[in-house]
Amino acid sequence: MDVGTNRSEGLHRIVYDSVVAVPFGDAGDRDIRAILEVARSRNAALGVTGALFCDGAYFVQLLEGPAEAVEAVFASIQADPRHTDIRVMERGPAETRWFAAWHMAMVTEAQVAQMRRTNPDLPALQPYRTAELVATLTEVLAPHWLPPRK
Ligand SMILES: Cc1cc2nc3c(=O)[nH]c(=O)nc-3n(C[C@H](O)[C@H](O)[C@H](O)COP(=O)(O)O)c2cc1C
Repeated sequence: MDVGTNRSEGLHRIVYDSVVAVPFGDAGDRDIRAILEVARSRNAALGVTGALFCDGAYFVQLLEGPAEAVEAVFASIQADPRHTDIRVMERGPAETRWFAAWHMAMVTEAQVAQMRRTNPDLPALQPYRTAELVATLTEVLAPHWLPPRK
């Protein structure tokens, strides 16, 4: 589905964090890959984009897209026993997609730590600090979505 939706077309965003309820490993973990596989195909069909951060103990996820689609996906996510204690940090109209290139990008603690070694100014990940979270995740993801240099 086209991901060009902007606010005038009802772009909506949800940002939440939650507590991991099953022992996940890193992004290569079979269970995380299973979540991403389902998430990416369903999100692509619905025009939902976003990013998922996991440090093994907590998830932070940003979902963006048409309001109905984002709310439908979030309803499934809320009912998912693989995490608990969901706290919604942001839920409402949005101006622009921050992760338009990703039907669900995955970022791990290890990736953030590695990026912090080359960029010590990388904002800390703190609850309710969406702008800092987006800045950090975007920085980590940037090398993966730019075309390879010649
Ligand atoms: C942390 C986490 C993030 C998830 N993110 C998504 C997502 O972005 N999109 C999605 O369709 N499902 C996502 N899921 C899976 C859903 O919870 C659900 O299993 C899936 O959408 C299938 O929906 P259903 O169980 O209502 O059939 C996520 C699950 C977890 C635990």
